[in-house]
Amino acid sequence: METLKLAIQKSGRLSEKSLELISECDIRLTQGKRKLISASNDFPLQILYLRDDDIPQYVADGVADIGIVGENEVMEKAKNVSMVRKLGFARCRMSLAIPQDEVYESVQWFNGKRIATSYPHILKDYLQDKNIRAQIEQISGSVEIAPSVGLADSIFDIVSSGSTLVGNRLKEVELVCKSEAVIISSQSLSKEKEKILDDLLFRIDTVLRSKGNKYILLNAPNDKIKEITNILPGMKSPTVMPLFQEGWSSMHFVVSEKDFWNVVDQLKEYGAEGILVIPIEKMIF
Ligand code: PRP
Ligand code: ZN
Repeated sequence: METLKLAIQKSGRLSEKSLELISECDIRLTQGKRKLISASNDFPLQILYLRDDDIPQYVADGVADIGIVGENEVMEKAKNVSMVRKLGFARCRMSLAIPQDEVYESVQWFNGKRIATSYPHILKDYLQDKNIRAQIEQISGSVEIAPSVGLADSIFDIVSSGSTLVGNRLKEVELVCKSEAVIISSQSLSKEKEKILDDLLFRIDTVLRSKGNKYILLNAPNDKIKEITNILPGMKSPTVMPLFQEGWSSMHFVVSEKDFWNVVDQLKEYGAEGILVIPIEKMIF
């Protein structure tokens, strides 16, 4: 029996959420994340804990079969790997930033400037595309301090909350691209490993789907059931059960997170009572 080797970030922005996803898939790991490798007794999976920057390379080389990593690293490293799922966490922007007190009018500002970054390839493509001639200073970490120590005039880096920029008196002036956590896969998996990956992706899809949805229970006056059903986006039909109290029914249905507040406001208008909102653990179609 083969085991699928999954590389995740050892520590950093992606590591907690990556482990959380594995756990939500009901895959229990034998060892904590302090180790370099852990395995599972209930699913043919082995976890390798690596630096996120190295994950595309390890997957391309087949040292790991798949990996969870930011799109930013996948784009930068441009290795032969397939992106098989977007995971919706660790969302961030990749942006150009300059000192706060600089006057900025357009991307032309960067002509002749020095830009510090850990993502020279993404930056080079962008500058070429915009016809900007700038000098790229490649550094591997703490990019945001480069302008204050005189190493560069500006930076190109990941922005998530923006607090790193504020803390270093920088302002975001150009959004180059967006990134989120993705699963990448080696392009030469054995049949058996393909099958394990399919099983894993099935579980992941089930978890991701449930995260975007809520289960709602409520009591509604019978003469409003039609109206309430009409405001439920994309629902075939809610479950409706009579209550002991005459003229009232209990309704059950699933609503997506993005429609949630809109739907709740309308439910109140239609006289719905005792609205319960319940998280969904798994959604299987
Ligand atoms: C990024 C980036 C900034 C910070 C931005 O580092 O290099 O330092 O996050 O986040 P903020 O806008 O919320 O302040 P990352 O966590 O990716 O670490 P790494 O580059 O070492 O992988
Ligand atoms: Zn990193």
